[in-house]
Amino acid sequence: MAEIPQRLIVVGASGGIGQALTRALLDEFPAAQIYATHNRSAIPFHHERVDWRQLDVVDPDAIETWAAAFDRVDWIINCVGFLHGAQGGPEKNIRSLEPEFLLDNIKINTLPSLLLARNFAAPLKKSPAPLLATISARVGSIEDNRLGGWYSYRISKAALNMALKTLSIEWRHSHPRGCVAALHPGTNDTALSKPFQANVPPGGLFDPSYTATSFVALLSRLDPSQSGQFWAWDGSKLAW
Ligand SMILES: NC(=O)c1ccc[n+]([C@@H]2O[C@H](COP(=O)([O-])OP(=O)(O)OC[C@H]3O[C@@H](n4cnc5c(N)ncnc54)[C@H](OP(=O)(O)O)[C@@H]3O)[C@@H](O)[C@H]2O)c1
Repeated sequence: MAEIPQRLIVVGASGGIGQALTRALLDEFPAAQIYATHNRSAIPFHHERVDWRQLDVVDPDAIETWAAAFDRVDWIINCVGFLHGAQGGPEKNIRSLEPEFLLDNIKINTLPSLLLARNFAAPLKKSPAPLLATISARVGSIEDNRLGGWYSYRISKAALNMALKTLSIEWRHSHPRGCVAALHPGTNDTALSKPFQANVPPGGLFDPSYTATSFVALLSRLDPSQSGQFWAWDGSKLAW
């Protein structure tokens, strides 16, 4: 995108990738103001151009109230995600499927991007080059599913991908200068991947700062004709 974004939102900026992305955006866009959210974690760092807010993305009213404070927004990047928690971890097989765990995955991984799109549609429309991007995961690709397992996470990310694709089609008309993107970060060394890092091949576990820099470069060159795609950190396109 030729336009330099000035007002950017990073949702889930307290996470491993979200925090690195916020720092990469500060470096890349030295005049930009960033609005960053955390939920349960403390604010990870302070900076004069970062305005922090506590936000639980499963609360639609909280998103609506926050969005009402914005006039124009250029980029929104959603880095929130859930894979494991007190209620359990990804399923090895169908016998381990628990309805509440599946619904928690959808509440955190799928629904918030739709709520962000609904509530920030007007402020994004005022941007010359609006962008809405969410970190998905390759395991949400239906075509790429070779290993099976991880029902709830896969389902929530596949549904997220469909949500973003559908939004991109609607925004072709309502936000013709805009771009919607689903992103795959590779395997990053964060709390989310910690319990599953043992089988990562050598060189396959990224420092989130590498992924964040790669995402900023990728997002900066997207244009509206590329809206509605699923991108890996290295700029390659993934199958839905
Ligand atoms: N790490 C990987 O290898 C990997 C691979 C593929 C895809 N991804 C995706 O990349 C994204 C970022 O993951 P990460 O590795 O950076 O994970 P992480 O370090 O565990 O961070 C997760 C983030 O999600 C936020 N979050 C969770 N529930 C929330 C809620 N209800 N409301 C608001 N925020 C909430 C957390 O906020 P608080 O901590 O403040 O509560 C935190 O900022 C996720 O979508 C993940 O699925 C990661």
